[in-house]
Amino acid sequence: MDMQTSFGGLTLKNPVMTASGTFGFGLEFAPYGDLKRLGGLVAKGLSLKPREGNPMPRLAETPCGMLNAIGIQNPGVEHFVRTVLPSLPWKDVAVVANLYACDAEEFGELAGVLAGEEGIAALEVNVSCPNVKEGGIAFGQDPKQIGRVTEAVKRNAGGKHVMVKLSPNVTDITVCARAAAEGGADSLSLINTLSGMAVDIRRRRPRLANVIGGLSGPAIKPVALRCVHQVVQSVDIPVVGIGGIASAEDALEFLLVGAHAVQVGTANFLRPDFSFGLADDMAALLEEIGAESLEAFRGSLQMEF
Ligand SMILES: Cc1cc2nc3c(=O)[nH]c(=O)nc-3n(C[C@H](O)[C@H](O)[C@H](O)COP(=O)(O)O)c2cc1C
Repeated sequence: MDMQTSFGGLTLKNPVMTASGTFGFGLEFAPYGDLKRLGGLVAKGLSLKPREGNPMPRLAETPCGMLNAIGIQNPGVEHFVRTVLPSLPWKDVAVVANLYACDAEEFGELAGVLAGEEGIAALEVNVSCPNVKEGGIAFGQDPKQIGRVTEAVKRNAGGKHVMVKLSPNVTDITVCARAAAEGGADSLSLINTLSGMAVDIRRRRPRLANVIGGLSGPAIKPVALRCVHQVVQSVDIPVVGIGGIASAEDALEFLLVGAHAVQVGTANFLRPDFSFGLADDMAALLEEIGAESLEAFRGSLQMEF
């Protein structure tokens, strides 16, 4: 079955992308499979300047999921462009840069650095930086800021596809989705992690030095599916589904509710070869359940019982 998918001017040979922060810069996973088998590769979050990230411990396991508070540790955008990007097979797999900044100007500047880079197919905007000026509330929780950041990135992106990544830590995710769409986003990706916490009763301490972290993995899939379903109904731009995908069936669930593609995150840690075979597994499963094509299956959820 033809698994190619196109949306917002972006063409992926299949709908499987790897989620930011869970696949390094891709080269770390090259020993486990052929990167060219992926539809897209979203690089770990990039900031203008290098960042050390949060203090350890910054990962904790929970039943059905994982908590992380890495804090966007990265070597900075210039390092990525100069030393990593040339080694990635960007002619055969869509390389997406994930951007992290703390105000609209800085986001615009980051987009400007990547605008002329041939190897970058799209920019994914991570709006989860706590905004100090607005009293610590994350960008991703404020529709006005989402709109401003999206506009700044789009203005400086040199025509590249701009995907805005939404947080589920809000009352109504459709309000944020509309703000990004009105700001000029070409697509939306969702969800980022859910805010969570774990404690150790013996040491009487939080399990993360940062106390609060982001929950990911199978535990969040129902929340992610609900968010994608709601957002697909609310905006006219394409949506990429993320959250707890650990099988071909999980991935197809997101396509059924209307996503154009999916991103795999935490599953990469459990099975480093998982993402490479996922598109083939999805194609086989589509055939098994009698779907005519990927396009016919996408968004074909029946609501009557
Ligand atoms: C260790 C770790 C690091 C992450 N780093 C980033 C990041 O830099 N930028 C970003 O937008 N999302 C980041 N995420 C969120 C993932 O891209 C993804 O949205 C989330 O984990 C949900 O998908 P999953 O349940 O398949 O893991 C990170 C997640 C994990 C687990």
